[in-house]
Amino acid sequence: MPFIKHVEGRTKLLVPKRSLAEDPPPTSPIFFNPAASLNRDITVAVNLATGGSTFCDAMAGVGARGLRVANEVRRIAKVTLVDFNSDALRLALRAAVLNGVKRKCEFSVSETCSYLYSRFGRDQKFDYVDVDPFGSPVRQLQAALSATEDGGILSITATDTAVLCGVYPKVSVRRYGASPLNNQFHHETAVRILLGALARLGGPLDTGIESLVAHSTRHYLRVFARVKVGATKADSTLGQLGIIASCKACGHLTQSREPQQSCEKCGGRVISAGPLWLGALTDDGVAVAADEAAQEAGLNRAADVLQSLVGVDKYPPWSYSIDEICSLLKVPTVSESEVTSRLQSLGYVTSRQPFELTGVKTDADFGEVKKVVKSAANELGPKNLAR
Ligand SMILES: C[S@@+](CC[C@H](N)C(=O)[O-])C[C@H]1O[C@@H](n2cnc3c(N)ncnc32)[C@H](O)[C@@H]1O
Ligand SMILES: [Zn+2]
Repeated sequence: MPFIKHVEGRTKLLVPKRSLAEDPPPTSPIFFNPAASLNRDITVAVNLATGGSTFCDAMAGVGARGLRVANEVRRIAKVTLVDFNSDALRLALRAAVLNGVKRKCEFSVSETCSYLYSRFGRDQKFDYVDVDPFGSPVRQLQAALSATEDGGILSITATDTAVLCGVYPKVSVRRYGASPLNNQFHHETAVRILLGALARLGGPLDTGIESLVAHSTRHYLRVFARVKVGATKADSTLGQLGIIASCKACGHLTQSREPQQSCEKCGGRVISAGPLWLGALTDDGVAVAADEAAQEAGLNRAADVLQSLVGVDKYPPWSYSIDEICSLLKVPTVSESEVTSRLQSLGYVTSRQPFELTGVKTDADFGEVKKVVKSAANELGPKNLAR
């Protein structure tokens, strides 16, 4: 199979030629996705900003992620690359030589879960485990939790975004044990469903989690969670699960531990997402340090994403689409910036929704936001079409 040298970050990779020419790249005989470079940049930045010396790239493919960590994070002493595709790992081994990091790397042609479970013993676990499957990562989660050190970091990619975002709700219930909501903040809900599933799967292992960084694009979701071993940690983790309910009649949103039967504002029928993670998504200390590390390393797109996540937990676990509110109210479109400055002058806090392409996060409730949108639209009239 023809392959080619390809540089990502500061690391030389050997990748199938076709993977650079075709979109999406072929999954067989060897998969490499150049469009996931931002995802890997963020991994490098989070690694630079946190501790630990061992990294397991548990679904390594041609080793893009593991080799970048070996080459770009000096502190890391050992990277273990696992994949059941021996041809892919052969390219990874050759690229390790090209980067002068072969000493730091070990390779295992294995099934991911079997390999990770084999590392459950004392002094066998990793400070950092990454799971990056095709589609849903749910099959790998307990194995990955089992192979991560207490206090270590587990990072997970999910590319079954349509499922988690509510296009196929029954599949979400089957895979993640949670109902999604296909609405204006569905990527944030999707991230919370993934973290919720991780928290619940950790329960039987007496293992808890804490979310450090979570981000999303239209193609994938990504979470970095601190793993915390112990029954008390598992219990307090499970205490952070709950429900988001959205009123079909008035649009009011609530979060609660238990499912809601009806809207607290108008008594109307609600639709619910969950059980999902209602805890913090970001550890601001880690996000700020990772942002700085990304800037220093010249990983500017990663720095932008990391910056956008700082402070996200000041807000309720949802956002408002101003366009949708305008069409609901049948008023001319007003810009997000107009609405946010009006909300701020009323004493509310606001910020851009980092998990969606558009949207406003605020502590104002839906009724307040509607009022502000209505008055802005009435005052500014139909000419105000700017975003
Ligand atoms: C999405 S790709 C990983 C891409 C890689 N992390 C990167 O950043 O380039 C998924 C990889 O997982 C491997 N894989 C899928 N299921 C596996 C399993 N059960 N055990 C071992 N490897 C598996 C595939 O061979 C493929 O290389
Ligand atoms: Zn209502």
